[in-house]
Amino acid sequence: MAFISILLTSLLIVIHPTSSAPWPNSPPPPPPNPAQQACKVTKDPKKCEESLKESPTKNATEIIQTALDISYSTNLIAQSMTQSLYEASVGNLSVITITKNCLDYLENSAYRLISTIDAFEDREIKNCRAWTSAALTYQYDCWSELQIVNNEDTDLINDTMTFVDTLVGYTSNALSFIMAFDVYGDQTASWKPLKTERDGFWEGGGGGGEPELEIPLRLLARSDVSVCKPDYDQCTYETVQEAVNAAPNWSRGWRFVIYVMKGFYEETVRVGIEKQHVVIIGDGMGRTIIAGSLNVSQPGVYTYNTPTLGESSL
Ligand SMILES: *[C@@H]1O[C@H](CO)[C@@H](O)[C@H](O)[C@H]1NC(C)=O
Ligand SMILES: *[C@@H]1O[C@H](CO)[C@@H](O)[C@H](O)[C@H]1NC(C)=O
Ligand SMILES: *[C@@H]1O[C@H](CO)[C@@H](O)[C@H](O)[C@H]1NC(C)=O
Ligand SMILES: *[C@@H]1O[C@H](CO)[C@@H](O)[C@H](O)[C@H]1NC(C)=O
Ligand SMILES: *[C@@H]1O[C@H](CO)[C@@H](O)[C@H](O)[C@H]1NC(C)=O
Repeated sequence: MAFISILLTSLLIVIHPTSSAPWPNSPPPPPPNPAQQACKVTKDPKKCEESLKESPTKNATEIIQTALDISYSTNLIAQSMTQSLYEASVGNLSVITITKNCLDYLENSAYRLISTIDAFEDREIKNCRAWTSAALTYQYDCWSELQIVNNEDTDLINDTMTFVDTLVGYTSNALSFIMAFDVYGDQTASWKPLKTERDGFWEGGGGGGEPELEIPLRLLARSDVSVCKPDYDQCTYETVQEAVNAAPNWSRGWRFVIYVMKGFYEETVRVGIEKQHVVIIGDGMGRTIIAGSLNVSQPGVYTYNTPTLGESSL
C-alpha cells in the first residue's frame, strides 16, 4: 500500500508540470502586438511604439486612426506655440515673416490631416496617402524655416522647432502606416519595411501589391500624352507645362496620364485647380528631372512661388 501511494505520488509529481501548470520562469510568449508590428514600417520604430503606448490598439485600422489623431492634436498645439512665437516677435521682421509662414503651413497641414481622417473612414487610401504626405511637407517646411532664425539668445524658437520636429515624426509614422496598409493590406503581421521610389522601386499597379523595380509598362501604355527632349524620341510635347495645359478642364472622368521621358526639364510647372485627375509619371529618380531653380533673390519671387511643380497659379 505504502509502495503504491509513493508510486502514485511520484507519478503525480512527474505528470503534474506537463499537464496543467506552466513551467516556472517561462510564461507563454505574448501574442504578437499589432502596434509593434506596425511600427516596423516607420523610420524610428522605438519612438513610434512609445507614441502609441497611451492608446492600446488592436488592428491596423485603429492604429492608423490613432496615429492620425495624434498627429492632428499635436499639429494644433504646434499652431498655438507658433502663434505665441509670432506674438512675441514684435519688431523682428525676419522672425515675424517666418513665423507667419509657419502658421500658414501648419494651418494647411491641419486641413490636410482632417481631410485624411475623413477619407480614411471611406477607405480612400490613395487620397489619404497624398494628403498625409502634403501635411508632412508643410510641417517640415515650417521646421526648416524656423531653423533660419533659431539662435542661442532665446529658447522660444528652439522649443517650437523641437515640438514641430516631434510633429513631423508623428505624421511620418501615420504616412508609413497608411502606405503599408495600401501595399500590404489590413493585417499588421504582413507589413514589411517599405520600399519606395527613393530605393528605385515602383509600386505594383493599382490595388496594392509588392513594389516592383521597373515602371510597369501597362502604366506607360495608358498615358494620354508624352513629353521628351527634342533629341530623344517621338513624343507629344517638349515641355511638361504644355502637357499639363493639354489636360481637360474640370475633368470628372478617368485620369489624364502624362509620361515625361528621361531628360532634364528646366521649367516651373503649375497645375491649375481646373486640372483634375492629372498623373505625371517619369522614367525614375535621377532620369527624369524637372528643375525650376527659382529662389527668393529673384525679383517678384517669394518662397511660396518657388516650387518646381506646384498646384497653384503664379
Ligand atoms: C478593428 O477593430 C475595431 C474595434 O475593435 C473593429 O470595429 C474593426 O472591425 C476591426 N477591423 C478589422 C479590419 O479587424
Ligand atoms: C531678429 O531675430 C534673429 C533670429 O532670432 C536675430 O538673429 C536678430 O538679431 C534679431 N534682430 C533684432 C533686431 O532683434
Ligand atoms: C536647441 O535645443 C537642443 C536640445 O533640445 C540643443 O541641443 C540645441 O543646442 C539647441 N539649439 C540652439 C540653437 O539653442
Ligand atoms: C482651361 O482653363 C484655363 C484656365 O482657366 C483656360 O486658360 C483654358 O483656356 C481652359 N481650356 C479649355 C480647353 O477650356
Ligand atoms: C538665386 O537665383 C539667382 C538668379 O538666378 C542666382 O544668381 C543665385 O545663385 C540663386 N541662388 C541660389 C541659392 O540658388
